[in-house]
Amino acid sequence: MAIQRVLTGITTSGTPHLGNYVGAIRPAIAASRAPGTESFYFLADYHSLIKVQDPARVQRSTLEIAAAWLACGLDPDRVWFYRQSDVPETTELTWLLTCVAGKGLLNRAHAYKAAVDRNRETGEDDDAGVTAGLFMYPVLMAADILLFNADKVPVGRDQVQHIEMARDIGQRFNHLYGGPGSKPYFTLPEAAVEEQVATLPGLDGRKMSKSYDNTIPLFAPAAELKKLIYSIVTDSRKPGEPKQVEGSALFEVFQAFASEPEVAAMREAFATGIGWGSAKELLFIRIDAEVAPLRERYESLIAHPARIEEQLRDGARRVREKYATPFLHELREAVGLRDLGRVAVSRSEGKSAKAALAMFKQYREDDGKFYFKLVEGERVLLQGRGFDSPREAGTRIAAIKRDGFDGADAALGEGVDAAEVAAALDAIREAEAAKA
Ligand code: TRP
Repeated sequence: MAIQRVLTGITTSGTPHLGNYVGAIRPAIAASRAPGTESFYFLADYHSLIKVQDPARVQRSTLEIAAAWLACGLDPDRVWFYRQSDVPETTELTWLLTCVAGKGLLNRAHAYKAAVDRNRETGEDDDAGVTAGLFMYPVLMAADILLFNADKVPVGRDQVQHIEMARDIGQRFNHLYGGPGSKPYFTLPEAAVEEQVATLPGLDGRKMSKSYDNTIPLFAPAAELKKLIYSIVTDSRKPGEPKQVEGSALFEVFQAFASEPEVAAMREAFATGIGWGSAKELLFIRIDAEVAPLRERYESLIAHPARIEEQLRDGARRVREKYATPFLHELREAVGLRDLGRVAVSRSEGKSAKAALAMFKQYREDDGKFYFKLVEGERVLLQGRGFDSPREAGTRIAAIKRDGFDGADAALGEGVDAAEVAAALDAIREAEAAKA
């Protein structure tokens, strides 16, 4: 079975939260341990600039996210772990893809459309406050994915459209430029959404997201974790009243951390009227059991940022050498960003191909005379007059080959000019010289 390439990125725009953990980090690390996979995990810091223009925050977030992945068990000796901006081939590929991506495709991106809708609601110009970076977000992401020919991209449901766009853009490129040999340049990626817990609800019940300010930091100290869990929205049912699991953020978060029997027990507790306080206590215990050992590793990692820096650079250096740099060479070649020194070579190749087509033919007509003609496929370039012997005709052919066509003993074919004959003769001479 072919090795499956799994790739995912996390935007370095915030502090890792439980939603990132459940939706991306945990499934990605689990997938990286599966046999037959080659994994690529990276810090999407170019993406972060679209949303965050506070340099200290970009840096801080990059450190926290790198430490989080390492703390959660990512092994940089087994998977490719790098920072997007350490792989400049990403931005170069972004441009190549920009030139094949349909603008209409990008107009339909959810994030961009949402920004336009907000502007319309407030009576602003459609594109007010929208940067070209936001608009181009899907192309940059396509470059991340296509650069390493990923097969599977573990993402949250909200990112599925971006993977589809990456497929679309990759397909257009393949269609336009083909590929080396019979294989297209780009593998078309598929999104891998963990069906169970693709998106985790946050404190207010909406999707846990920094933009809703409803997150629970993954490595909050235990006391803070507890406090935040206690602030998850619930309805006003009293202890003893049966509770509904449908639509309960608390239940959903519990499900993301608990085993099947634990979930069944919680479902039963809801039905038999567990109090919200007790349910929250159980949820805290469950999450902390999983997170506490990771938190400890995280704290020791983040105390040595220079070591993390070194690991990231090393990862980028290796992944560029093995994949990104040679692939970009191939892609530059594909689109015509080529070494001009090779133009002359390919021109003479073209000529000898033509020389194989143009050739002299000798034959005898009903009038008993010996004729010759210079033909290129079906086209007659020169028509020779009749000679009394084949030797005379052959001598004339040799003279034309050697000295060029001078109008004697032959006429140009219909629609043929002298320059075309001269070029054909040049090509024949070159081909004969090459053979000798
Ligand atoms: N856009 C992704 C997110 O916000 C992060 C990301 C950037 C990404 N590039 C990627 C994810 C490539 C998967 C593959 O979650």
